[in-house]
Amino acid sequence: MTSRPVPLVAGNWKMYKTAAEAGDFCRRLRKAWPGNAGVEVAVFPPYTALAAAVTELAGSGIQVGAQNLHPAASGAFTGEISAGMLLTLGCTGVIIGHSERRHVLGESDDFCAEKVVSASQAGLVPVFCVGETLAERQGGKTEAVVSRQLSGVLKQLQEPGRLVVAYEPVWAIGTGITATPALAQEVHRFIRKTLAGVWGSKGEAVRILYGGSVKPENARELLSKPEVNGALVGGASLEVEPFVSIVKAAI
Ligand code: PGA
Repeated sequence: MTSRPVPLVAGNWKMYKTAAEAGDFCRRLRKAWPGNAGVEVAVFPPYTALAAAVTELAGSGIQVGAQNLHPAASGAFTGEISAGMLLTLGCTGVIIGHSERRHVLGESDDFCAEKVVSASQAGLVPVFCVGETLAERQGGKTEAVVSRQLSGVLKQLQEPGRLVVAYEPVWAIGTGITATPALAQEVHRFIRKTLAGVWGSKGEAVRILYGGSVKPENARELLSKPEVNGALVGGASLEVEPFVSIVKAAI
């Protein structure tokens, strides 16, 4: 493949932190992390804390994104938020298709693909999550599941633009069980081949993050794998110190 992309370490806060707590975290984060050209950093607070995070991180180089969006530009979609709304708030990215949305809230592959297209057209960086459940892995279906999840996006997006893919095996999310670096590398390589098969060298340049119980103790080894271009971090992104230690491990 071409030269390795700058890694991205992203914190998925899920439904944690009020606006005040987010503001406090971000003030401490920018002190603890003065920045380094060797890694990009982003946080994904809940909607209600986005404005506080954007304000506190302005000019720091640390990006702020949302955890979801609706694919339409506007309309009668009670409770939903569009790409344009996120952009005007100062967001630069958005997580799409997280397993908690797919499995708990029932989002389909097609709906997720529509969201990726909408985010991408609006100029947001879509962080598109894929990954198999434990039963799917045990049934030898990992590659089939991941390619099914990717297929809508590959069909609908002419080119990847700034798309980021996050491989998050469902059995590793919030469980403390991490995929071994070798296993992560294997699936990442499969994803890379799939993207490159459709988008050629542009597919090769897409960043593929690993997510699922990433911690300061396992980050360096996971991130040392050639196909692992960063991490999507849940639990360990909620405190400044472990998050910064994972960020440092990516350089
Ligand atoms: P975890 O979550 O790091 O707490 O396993 C990862 C995620 O859900 O993105």
